[in-house]
Amino acid sequence: MIYKSLLKPLLFQLQPETAHHFTFNTLKILFKIPFAKAIAASIFCIEDKKLEREVFGLKFKNPVGLAAGLDKDAKLYDELSAFGFGFIEIGTVTPVAQAGNEKPRMFRLPFDNALINRMGFNNEGVVAVANRLRKRNKNVIIGGNIGKNKITSNENAISDYEICFNVLFDVVDYFVVNVSSPNTPGLRALQDKEPLTNLLNHLQHLNHQKVKPKPILLKIAPDLTNEQLDEIIEIVITTKLAGIVATNTTVSRENLKTEKNIVETCGAGGLSGKPLTTRSTEVIKYIANKSDKKFAIIGVGGIHSPADAIEKLNAGADLIQLYTGFIYEGPSLAKMICKELINMK
Ligand code: FNR
Repeated sequence: MIYKSLLKPLLFQLQPETAHHFTFNTLKILFKIPFAKAIAASIFCIEDKKLEREVFGLKFKNPVGLAAGLDKDAKLYDELSAFGFGFIEIGTVTPVAQAGNEKPRMFRLPFDNALINRMGFNNEGVVAVANRLRKRNKNVIIGGNIGKNKITSNENAISDYEICFNVLFDVVDYFVVNVSSPNTPGLRALQDKEPLTNLLNHLQHLNHQKVKPKPILLKIAPDLTNEQLDEIIEIVITTKLAGIVATNTTVSRENLKTEKNIVETCGAGGLSGKPLTTRSTEVIKYIANKSDKKFAIIGVGGIHSPADAIEKLNAGADLIQLYTGFIYEGPSLAKMICKELINMK
C-alpha cells in the first residue's frame, strides 16, 4: 500500500506539525484539479445500505467519522470527506482566535503507534470558521466541537461556549462540548458536577429556544474514575443531551513501549493512538451498561484497524471516530472499516 510504504516514511521525516500542514496544503492544491475529489472518492469511499445509521435524529452514510482536532478551522472538511468518512468534526473552536501553545507541541511515538500533543486549542476563532462552513455542501455531516479561550476563567466559561454555540448554530449538524482537553489549564475541572450541569443546562436552554434544536454531545476524558463517570451519565440524562463522545486523549503514560526518557522529553500533553484503545473501550462499555443506552455514544480512541472499530461498536458505540489511526494507517482506514462492517452482517 502506497501510504505505508512510501508516503508515511517521507512524512514521518518531517516534524509532526510540519507534516500536518504540508499534507493539508498538498491536498488543498491537488483537489483543485478537476475531478480530483471524484477520483479520490471512487478510491476511498464505499456506500452500502448496511453502513447507514440514524443516530440522534441524523442520517449517517456510514458510522466512521473524523475526530476533532485534525480540521480545527474547517479548512479541509470537503476534501477529507472524500476519504470515506460518514461525518467530520471540526474544532475545537473558541470565541477568539488563539495561537495555542509554543512549538514543538506535537510528538510521535512510532513504537507505540501514538501521538502526544499539547496544541492548546490553536484556532482562527469561531467567526472565521463559521464563515468557511457557510459555503459547505451538505453531503457530509459536520459536527462543531466547541471550547473556551485560554484567557477565559472557568467562572466565565459558559459565555465562551454560548458564543461558539450561537455563531455555529446554522452551519453545523451537531455540537460537541469539549471539557476534556488536557491542554487548556483547568478546563477539565468543568467536568465536575456543578459547573458541568450549569454549562449543559444553559446550552440546552439556548438550544430549545431555536425552531429546530440540534443534538448536543459531551466529550469526556478517559482519565475519569467510575464515580465521575456515574455523575456524568446522570448529568447527561438530566440535561437531556444527545450523547457522549468517549474519549479525548489521556494524560496517562502507562504501558508504553517507547523508552521512558524519550516519553519524558515530549513533556505534558494528551496521548492518543494505540495505547488508548483499551481504556477508551472500557469507558464506552461502562457508560453503555450504566446508562442502559439512554443516549448515543461516539467511540473514539486508538482505532487503528477494522477489529478495533468493531470492538468499540460491540462495547456500545453507535458511531466511531478516528484521528491517530488515520495518521498511522493511512487514508484507506475508514474504507477498510466500512468493508468489514458490510461483510460482518
Ligand atoms: C486531538 N483531539 C482533540 N479533541 C478535541 O475534542 N478537540 C481538539 O481540538 C483536539 N485536538 C487534537 C489534536 C491532536 C494533534 C490530536 C492527536 C488529538 C483528540 C481527538 O479528537 C481524539 O479524541 C483522540 O486523539 C483519541 O482518538 P485517536 O487519536 O486515538 O484516534
